[in-house]
Amino acid sequence: MRVYYVKIHILLEAKIFMKEKINAVLDEALPKINGADSLETLEALRIEFMGKKGKVTELMPELKNVPNEQKREMGIALNALKTQISDALEERKVALSEEAVKREIESMPEVDFSRPVNLKTGSMHPRSIIQKQVEDIFISMGFIIEDGNEVETEYNNFDAVNVPATHPARDAQDTFWLENGQVLKTQTSAAQNRILRTYGPKCKVLFPGRCFRNEALDASHENTFFQIEGVVVDENVSVSNLIYFMKEMLKGVFKKDLNVRLRPGFFPFTEPSFELDATCPFCGGRGCGTCKNSGWLELCPCGMIHPNVLREAGVDPEKYNGFAFGLGFDRLVMIRTGLSDIRYLNSGNIKVLEQFGVRM
Ligand code: DAH
Repeated sequence: MRVYYVKIHILLEAKIFMKEKINAVLDEALPKINGADSLETLEALRIEFMGKKGKVTELMPELKNVPNEQKREMGIALNALKTQISDALEERKVALSEEAVKREIESMPEVDFSRPVNLKTGSMHPRSIIQKQVEDIFISMGFIIEDGNEVETEYNNFDAVNVPATHPARDAQDTFWLENGQVLKTQTSAAQNRILRTYGPKCKVLFPGRCFRNEALDASHENTFFQIEGVVVDENVSVSNLIYFMKEMLKGVFKKDLNVRLRPGFFPFTEPSFELDATCPFCGGRGCGTCKNSGWLELCPCGMIHPNVLREAGVDPEKYNGFAFGLGFDRLVMIRTGLSDIRYLNSGNIKVLEQFGVRM
């Protein structure tokens, strides 16, 4: 009987002893933490209480002296102690940081708005500048400007513009396929079907856009490049209408009248198809480095829209016809700016790009 009492007594002692220690640590820690006046002091307190040899950490092994029946209760109390101290440390840290920021702001010198400033600002990308010029010209001729998607369905990118699965033209456009079967659009022509459905059968629409092809890169090939596509559909559209719009566009971009010529081309979406050349704006056709002494610059594939493309977009090819063109816009930008390597256009190289900001 006596042994039994003694045991209870010892057990109670162990529990009370541990509880007291926990309370003592808490009573010591909280006022110190709340009174800490710098982040350094706070860090020292963190080490004092929560560090490897800290007062809280050192209480942990004592848990093993507590009898089994009370381990759970004491374990919870110890965890609560840890949480309370970590929370207090964190709260004080936030408060001290806020005070530090406040002090820094207060100590800042007042801004003198009358002081001269450096007015050097960023510049527009040459692509954006020339695209705006081209768009303005077409807007002045009654065109609507539209956007295309960068991710397109296989149908829009190929089938809807008369490039069925077996067509060799698909191979020529090394396509980035997505896992869901869609593509990164290889050509702005991918928007033709949607645009004709939306605005047809009588419309004039220009749709610039970024295109992607899995190309080996060199000075004239990029895997990410820009085209500007245009379509005009109405009754009795002719090749001379196409030539007129192209000449107006070139006049707007190069600020002078240029002659154009059409050579036969081949594209599945147009019949007949052409390659449109313009007289070299730099030598007036006499021959120079830019036109490789030919006097002509190859500028824009184009043609009369294939009846299959119209039909696929719900436009009756018996009643309406039209032309389309797909300007290789990056090439135009290079000719206009004199940049010799297409890769500069995507490089983000400020030294290259800022040259064009104001001049153009
Ligand atoms: N989509 C063609 C390409 O990327 C370019 C093109 C050619 C577009 C003729 C046209 C066109 O609209 O009529 O190679």
